[in-house]
Amino acid sequence: MFILNRLRIEKLFFVLTIVVVAFFLRLNALAKEKNNYHGLSPVLGVELVVKNCTVCHSADIIVENHMSRKAWDKTITWMQKEQGLWKLNKEVRKIILDYLSKTQGITNNKFSGQAIRKNSNQMYEFDYRPNPL
Ligand code: HEC
Repeated sequence: MFILNRLRIEKLFFVLTIVVVAFFLRLNALAKEKNNYHGLSPVLGVELVVKNCTVCHSADIIVENHMSRKAWDKTITWMQKEQGLWKLNKEVRKIILDYLSKTQGITNNKFSGQAIRKNSNQMYEFDYRPNPL
C-alpha cells in the first residue's frame, strides 16, 4: 500500500517536471520569435529585409523612417549607389519595396507612430525622437 502511494507520487512529480520544463521552453521560443526581426513588423518579406538591410546598420534606421513607396525606392537606389548595398534581383527588390511601403509608409494609418504623436501632441511636428544610431 505504502509503496503504491509512493509510486504514484513519483509519477506525478515526473509529469509535473515535464510540464514545467515544456512551459519554459515554450516561453523561450516565443521570446526568440519576437526578437528575430529586430523590431520590424513580422509580415511577408521581413526575412529579406533583415537579410539585406540590417547588415550595415541596425533595423532601427528603417523602423524610424516613414516614406512613400517612391521615396523608399530612391533610398534603396541611393543605398546601392553610395553606401555599398549589393545588387538585388528584381523580385527581391519588389518584395522589399512592398514590405517597406506597407509597413513603413506614410499613410493615414491610425496606428503609425506619426499619427499617434499627432493625435496626442499638437506640437508633434517639433517633437523629434532621438536618433537610434
Ligand atoms: C552596404 C551597407 C548597407 C546596406 C546593405 C544597407 N544600408 Fe542603409 N545605410 C548605409 C549607410 C552607410 C547609411 C548612412 C548613410 C548616411 O547617413 O550618410 C545608411 C542609411 C540608411 C537610411 C537612412 C537614410 C537617411 O535618410 O538618413 C535608411 C532608411 C536605410 N539606410 C535603409 C536601408 C534599407 C531599406 C536597406 C536594404 C534594402 C539598407 N539600408 C541596406 C549602408 C547600408
